[in-house]
Amino acid sequence: MERHELERTLDKMRQDWDERARENARFYVNTERTDWTDEEFFESGRRTVREEILTDMINICQGKDPKQMKAIEIGCGAGRVTRALAEIFGEVHGVDVSGEMVELAREALRGMPNAHVYQNNGMDLGVIPPGEYDFAFSSIVFQHIPSREIIESYVQDLHRLLKPGALFKFQVQGDPNVETDPDDTWLGVPFTEAQAREMAARCGFELRYSHGAGTQYFWLWFFRK
Ligand SMILES: C[S@@+](CC[C@H](N)C(=O)[O-])C[C@H]1O[C@@H](n2cnc3c(N)ncnc32)[C@H](O)[C@@H]1O
Repeated sequence: MERHELERTLDKMRQDWDERARENARFYVNTERTDWTDEEFFESGRRTVREEILTDMINICQGKDPKQMKAIEIGCGAGRVTRALAEIFGEVHGVDVSGEMVELAREALRGMPNAHVYQNNGMDLGVIPPGEYDFAFSSIVFQHIPSREIIESYVQDLHRLLKPGALFKFQVQGDPNVETDPDDTWLGVPFTEAQAREMAARCGFELRYSHGAGTQYFWLWFFRK
């Protein structure tokens, strides 16, 4: 992608997600409902954490006490999952391309001093304090990103921030029939298992496990080398 095309896609992502946040943030974050109560919305974040994190603590913590761990979340939205992550990990740092979403997340995380959220440029983690992080997570975010280059830019930057051996667990679009358009910020670019493995290798990660190839919920376990 040419630089100007990339910038156009990033601008469009920020504008579209800001608009979605103003219209009905919680619906666009989790389309199961249009009228979430606070309680139900944050409980759905705890459910994600129960299903994707608490069942997988061996890979995620690798013997460490989660309260001593620093975690990163890409695409924190309105703080739905971030809150549940902050109940488990010592520190959580979330980024989101939408300033409107970040404002909602800050509200949701008020009173949780170990959770920090930042608006970013939509393609790297330069806004996160430099240091060494133990785990990174991203769910229902890359399935909306129409550019392979943007997704790979995040993986490259995580190589800078994660400790050797640490896990980046994330979900991408795996449905090969999805057709992307750089101006459409709802449908993300699909990955095959081979494409995911090649991206891992290019960025200094090992793709050790995957689940859901060929579907919208294609989960990848990238371990930093
Ligand atoms: C469907 S919501 C999910 C939010 C959160 N992960 C959750 O599960 O509650 C997708 C989020 O990803 C954010 N997003 C989309 N493209 C992004 C990008 N390139 N970089 C960072 N965030 C992005 C959107 O602003 C939105 O908040």
